[in-house]
Amino acid sequence: MTNAQSPAGIQRLDGIYYYVENLERSRHLYVDQLDFPIVAGGHNEEGEYLVFEAKRCRYFFVKPAENTEGARFIKKHTEGIGRLVFEVKDLDAAYLNLEARGATPIEYIKTVESAEGKMRYFDITTPFGDCNWRFVEKEGNILAPGMVRYAEPQGGKNCFEFEVIDHITSNFRTLAPAILWMEHVMGFERYWGIEFHTEDVNKELKKGSGLKSIVMRDPHSGLKFANNEPKKPFFYQSQIQLFVDDLSGDGVQHTALAMRDIVGSIQEMTRRGVRFLKTPKTYYEMLPTKLKQLGVDEIDEDIAVLQSLGILVDGHQHHKYLLQIFLEDSATLFADKKAGPFFLELIQRKGDPLFGGNNFRSLFESLELQHRQEGRL
Ligand SMILES: [Fe+2]
Repeated sequence: MTNAQSPAGIQRLDGIYYYVENLERSRHLYVDQLDFPIVAGGHNEEGEYLVFEAKRCRYFFVKPAENTEGARFIKKHTEGIGRLVFEVKDLDAAYLNLEARGATPIEYIKTVESAEGKMRYFDITTPFGDCNWRFVEKEGNILAPGMVRYAEPQGGKNCFEFEVIDHITSNFRTLAPAILWMEHVMGFERYWGIEFHTEDVNKELKKGSGLKSIVMRDPHSGLKFANNEPKKPFFYQSQIQLFVDDLSGDGVQHTALAMRDIVGSIQEMTRRGVRFLKTPKTYYEMLPTKLKQLGVDEIDEDIAVLQSLGILVDGHQHHKYLLQIFLEDSATLFADKKAGPFFLELIQRKGDPLFGGNNFRSLFESLELQHRQEGRL
């Protein structure tokens, strides 16, 4: 891969900055309930921080100090994701290549050193609302500027075996500039797309929700970004527009955590009080037929068990599928609008590389069937 095709030379997603007003409720969800280890905590110039890290899934939670980027984010939006950090091999090359391709650096390259190592970095603005992207080159075990690792991780033990952030999904009122930016500035490629509207599912519906989605992939690192915009008609009722309304702008909607044993994990998480989006029972009544139509003629799990937990299934060929489930969004989980519309997805891949696109449609179809059975349609 040449620099022209991969201007940043991204190696991996280093971490995600999540700006919050209330660290304790996030700690409760990520640590007490999801069993993330806490690898660092304290204060730095950005504010009070806690870093949750399960294998390669790292979240920097920051309660911002005054006059910081985080404080600006929270004042303008709700709590939410304000920075994505990518580790690159050659930071100078990344800076020169990205700027030459039209990226907008916020400052020049900075260097920080600590007992744990050395880190050089720079930030750029993005079309992801107020979510900046940071590129870092690290030596040693340094975590982030002004953040010091605990001698031993505290909190959870990653008992659910989260492995990696599978994809990052974001919502935009206008998708095209974001896609063009990812293509022309970042050198990402188009990977997958879907668009549909509930009106297609049931013509009798006089209103509905639609979306257009394009997944972009970084050919160098393999990182995947799913990106949505609302779709007409009933543009303003689209779940995507509602998200943008709730966040007061475009931004990251969810991150998906890849794991090994979703069935066993959801049982334990439910026992710990984690709340997931409900899946109507009609979804499971239709599931065997649906999977056959998709070419998935065999799954290892018992559908009754999946139903009891609310886990969704999608796939495209024989015995190749994925299992996924979505947590309630933060505003709902914490009963506080200011907690924002971000949520987590949990995903176990069993050979299917896509994103559960059929589940969008299946969920809408089954909800309509349920409403019909209830005499509401
Ligand atoms: Fe997703």
